Amino acid sequence: MLFSVPLLLGFGFVLTGAALARPSSYAVWGADSAIARGQGNGLSSAGAPSVSYEHGEFQYALRHLLDRTGNQTYFDYILAGANNIVFDNGTVHGGYNVTDFVLDPVRTGPTFLYLYRKTGQAKWKKAADIFRGQLNSQPRTGQGQFWHKLIYFNQGWLDGIYMGDVFYAEYTSMFDTHNTTAWADITAQFQLIYDNTRQIPGVANYTGLLYHGYDWSHTAVWASPDRGHSPEVWDRALGWYMMALVDTAELAPPTSGALKPTILTILNDLAPNLRAAADPVSGVWWLVITQPGRAGNYFESSGSMMFVYAILKAVRLGYLKDRDGSYVRAMKKAYAYATATWVLPQTDGTFAWNATVNVGSLNLSGDYNYYISQFIALNDLKGLSAFILASMEIEML
Ligand SMILES: *[C@@H]1O[C@H](CO)[C@@H](O)[C@H](O)[C@H]1NC(C)=O
Ligand SMILES: *[C@@H]1O[C@H](CO)[C@@H](O)[C@H](O)[C@H]1NC(C)=O
Ligand SMILES: *[C@@H]1O[C@H](CO)[C@@H](O)[C@H](O)[C@H]1NC(C)=O
Ligand SMILES: *[C@@H]1O[C@H](CO)[C@@H](O)[C@H](O)[C@H]1NC(C)=O
Ligand SMILES: *[C@@H]1O[C@H](CO)[C@@H](O)[C@H](O)[C@H]1NC(C)=O
Ligand SMILES: *[C@@H]1O[C@H](CO)[C@@H](O)[C@H](O)[C@H]1NC(C)=O
Ligand SMILES: *[C@@H]1O[C@H](CO)[C@@H](O)[C@H](O)[C@H]1NC(C)=O
Repeated sequence: MLFSVPLLLGFGFVLTGAALARPSSYAVWGADSAIARGQGNGLSSAGAPSVSYEHGEFQYALRHLLDRTGNQTYFDYILAGANNIVFDNGTVHGGYNVTDFVLDPVRTGPTFLYLYRKTGQAKWKKAADIFRGQLNSQPRTGQGQFWHKLIYFNQGWLDGIYMGDVFYAEYTSMFDTHNTTAWADITAQFQLIYDNTRQIPGVANYTGLLYHGYDWSHTAVWASPDRGHSPEVWDRALGWYMMALVDTAELAPPTSGALKPTILTILNDLAPNLRAAADPVSGVWWLVITQPGRAGNYFESSGSMMFVYAILKAVRLGYLKDRDGSYVRAMKKAYAYATATWVLPQTDGTFAWNATVNVGSLNLSGDYNYYISQFIALNDLKGLSAFILASMEIEML
């Protein structure tokens, strides 16, 4: 080890200049890298106000990192980011239009609730009320599932549970905790998507996991004739859902009725199947989990980190029993692959984050070739935020 010191100094660019000192915590390093790049601040890359679910996910990670580190910069960053999309009178702007009935923007709602708790400022309650109002009029399937968007007629997507229902639950717990109708509705959102998308034993490439979404009317080009589900298990959609399960279970108050038991039953069904679906060598998950090793498929970093976060948090909070330690072992293995492969240290002291697919939508064919054709961008905040969340869980072990 002693010899490594002069060796490192020999590569002066690693240590000199304005480079950030590399933090010992990957969670801190990831957050500081994103902040140094100006990511997740309520503005698009062109600088325009933009209501973005990935900023909501990043802000959720930052607020937990603030609790762990006490670094006030994280609070200031969350506040500045939310101020970029909410006027002083509480109106949400930045591209948000309630009449689109899109669930994605609602993911910034937990940030508004958090800021209301921290500041007591009425504007954050007003902004949250706008999203809550959207949910009251959100179109639904015949069974009561929220449509993912007005333009996606009769479609429930796993993504939408993370986008809309974590907020719905947090809002209800803060302002409406005796509303049994709301709690039953939130419970139904989790249950309906599970019932309609879970693979049934006997199908080809059975994993016991959830297809990306379903069309209750069975008319989308991708809808299976029997159940209306989409053809593949896409890792990030399942990742959103897994995070929604644990984050909602954590905040569910005693007044929430069947919500928590329902979530824990689903979680305990999916978690062993998820562990079994990991690639045995790397420990991480394929982009298209139903087609392991097929040409064009690859190990995808956002879904993988969402799984590590969700499973470790579920074990920590006692939602999953890890009697033989195999969940924690499996998640540590996946995480070690991530730090070795997807964390790319840069000469300015930040790291770049790799292997997160940009999008996966059900607006086209929803088939294997569609998913693998979507591009991978460095520093995608959907994956990096999940890595920060996973890192905090690893660092709490
Ligand atoms: C707090 O976070 C900011 C933003 O990432 C970072 O630049 C700063 O170094 C951190 N401060 C401490 C004391 O770690
Ligand atoms: C809220 O403030 C914005 C920006 O000042 C303004 O354009 C908008 O009309 C206001 N909305 C209401 C309901 O007052
Ligand atoms: C919201 O969308 C509706 C329907 O497309 C449109 O009529 C309205 O002008 C939009 N409002 C804003 C503020 O963009
Ligand atoms: C209770 O929740 C239901 C379902 O979301 C909603 O329609 C109703 O307005 C809520 N009641 C109150 C008093 O907020
Ligand atoms: C099953 O998985 C194999 C291996 O990835 C793949 O080649 C095949 O197309 C899959 N079959 C179906 C029906 O998904
Ligand atoms: C980033 O990840 C992709 C997909 O795994 C891979 O093809 C590419 O080589 C990686 N880039 C770097 C710089 O590691
Ligand atoms: C499908 O949705 C993605 C993600 O929202 C979007 O980038 C893309 O433009 C959409 N494509 C079509 C054909 O609507």
